[in-house]
Amino acid sequence: MVKLAVLVSGGGTNLQSIIDSIEAGALDAKLLVVLSDNPGAYALERAKKHSIPTEVVSKDDFPGTDAFNAEIARRLNSYGVELLALAGYMRIIGPAVLEAFPMRVINIHPSLLPSFPGLDVQRKALEHGVKLSGCTVHFVDAGVDSGPVIIQAAVPVLDDDTVESLARRILAEEHRIYPKAIQLFSEGRLTVKGRRVSVRGAVASGTKLENPESSIIEG
Ligand code: GRF
Repeated sequence: MVKLAVLVSGGGTNLQSIIDSIEAGALDAKLLVVLSDNPGAYALERAKKHSIPTEVVSKDDFPGTDAFNAEIARRLNSYGVELLALAGYMRIIGPAVLEAFPMRVINIHPSLLPSFPGLDVQRKALEHGVKLSGCTVHFVDAGVDSGPVIIQAAVPVLDDDTVESLARRILAEEHRIYPKAIQLFSEGRLTVKGRRVSVRGAVASGTKLENPESSIIEG
């Protein structure tokens, strides 16, 4: 069982999916603490409803990002955290945290990385005209959404999609794959070599992903 912390800044639907997976017995993790940089994050309420300890570390209370990140690392260490999952955490993770948790910080991002790192990515995917988008769980390194990929799920982008409808379709997949990735970590099934993460016991479905489907084009 992995000792987990979740870092949030906002609504926390991914946090909720992690909590629900633990409570359903599908995720073998102990969620020790939910930490937010935003005291108004609704995610904190979600944690409290499930009697999970919360911590708030506000950037404004620190002279710079180094001191801010050092305090985050200190608080998480005080709980004995082993894995840190970012879930809608809107800041870059600083060196102090990465050094305290080497290859033990993961993130969920709403695109098929390395396409569309950064912010407002559902809009960027629509504007670019891609036919498939999705989400990625990856290890966090010093870059922006650039660390080794653990698991990805793809969704079609439809002609009549808005940013909101695409974001909803992607979010449903986020809620499915993030607990799954944490479970793989918890079971010790992830091995990182350079940029590649191998998943022990993983089976590819062999199903191709295509949008629009060729049967429709040919028909
Ligand atoms: C998700 O789309 C996540 O991928 C991104 O921020 C959003 C957070 O949503 N990093 P929530 O706070 O988990 O509802």
